[in-house]
Amino acid sequence: MTDTHTGGDVRLSGIGKTYGSFTAVHPLDLTVPQGSFFALLGASGCGKTTTLRMIAGLEEPTTGTVFLGDRDVTDLPPYKRPVNTVFQSYALFPHLSIYENVAFGLRRRGIKSVKKQVDEMLDLVQLGDKARHKPHQLSGGQQQRVAVARALINHPQVLLLDEPLGALDLKLRRQMQLELKRIQTEVGITFVHVTHDQEEAMTMADTVAVMNAGRVEQLGAPADLYENPRTTFVANFLGTSNLIEAEVVQAGSDIAVTAGGGTLRLPADRCSADTRRGGKLLVGVRPEKITLAHADDAGAIADGRNRVTGRIVDTSFIGVSTQYVVDSPAGAALQVYEQNIERDSRLTPGAEVVLHWNPAHTFGLDAAQDIDAGVEKVEDAA
Ligand SMILES: Nc1ncnc2c1ncn2[C@@H]1O[C@H](COP(=O)(O)OP(=O)(O)O)[C@@H](O)[C@H]1O
Ligand SMILES: [Mg+2]
Repeated sequence: MTDTHTGGDVRLSGIGKTYGSFTAVHPLDLTVPQGSFFALLGASGCGKTTTLRMIAGLEEPTTGTVFLGDRDVTDLPPYKRPVNTVFQSYALFPHLSIYENVAFGLRRRGIKSVKKQVDEMLDLVQLGDKARHKPHQLSGGQQQRVAVARALINHPQVLLLDEPLGALDLKLRRQMQLELKRIQTEVGITFVHVTHDQEEAMTMADTVAVMNAGRVEQLGAPADLYENPRTTFVANFLGTSNLIEAEVVQAGSDIAVTAGGGTLRLPADRCSADTRRGGKLLVGVRPEKITLAHADDAGAIADGRNRVTGRIVDTSFIGVSTQYVVDSPAGAALQVYEQNIERDSRLTPGAEVVLHWNPAHTFGLDAAQDIDAGVEKVEDAA
């Protein structure tokens, strides 16, 4: 399929939205490169849908400008923007066949010969054999693919997707993530995908913007965000991080800190805080970067590794890995994920252990922030 529209990034310049005295989206600048798969990720209520609706023209921004390419579309009504939206509730026309649902946008524009384009779209979403079915005869995932085909047939410059997989069960959601990614790669249209599911955002997107309370906290490629979070919110919201309160004892290209009576090291280029004047630092390490050794084997740990002693308080076996919770003088409830290769039967609750990891896998964050920001609470869990 070829896109007949030429050019253009989605560019938000100082776009903000207030409702009365409440600020849903603080003025933000954001560029979504043409042809990219871009995810807006954040917890419920952080302003994702509002941002998306301002791009679509469904919500009038309080401040700022929306550009598509060089064109200012801020004052254009939704139907005049080269943008289509797919919502969580796919809202297919129940009395129309799948074929007619997909054809709808073309028919509305008075186009008579739709067959070639509809067939092409149904092939794209792999539903060619379902053309004569009605929506209720399709699974949730298939219906959502029809919704995507129905939007794409209008050749939008940008497709906006607002939690499109939210109603699907986990396994189907995983399949649809890959399917949507394939479709986006095939058509090359800019996708802006809103989700609260961090794995979904990382799986699908080229670039993820992590939103928190109406602001973009950090933006980047999934691996970069994951490896180098710059705030505690991003460190905790995107996967799990162990954050340890530490005191800087040596600055420079190699930073040394003390925590819980021991010394830890980290590279300065992985530290987003200024350490030149010493002071406090939050030291972070991901659970899968840590190796767990029984205290009796501590002597065998290679020199130069960061190490923290502690006691196992909980273990859970989850198939590919075992997850350990360790209390330590450096921090309570440190998380360690060990792949299940050879399991050490001594690593049970109560066991004295040493956590050790490569200093290169350590990052540093400014200590003047809430260490628990972005931690998912039980009542938030879907
Ligand atoms: N029409 C509205 N009037 C008042 N507040 C609104 C309105 N729409 C959204 N909000 C508020 O703005 C915030 C952001 O909402 P929304 O963009 O829907 O968040 P998200 O999609 O990230 O869950 C929420 O606190 C929500 O309650
Ligand atoms: Mg929303």
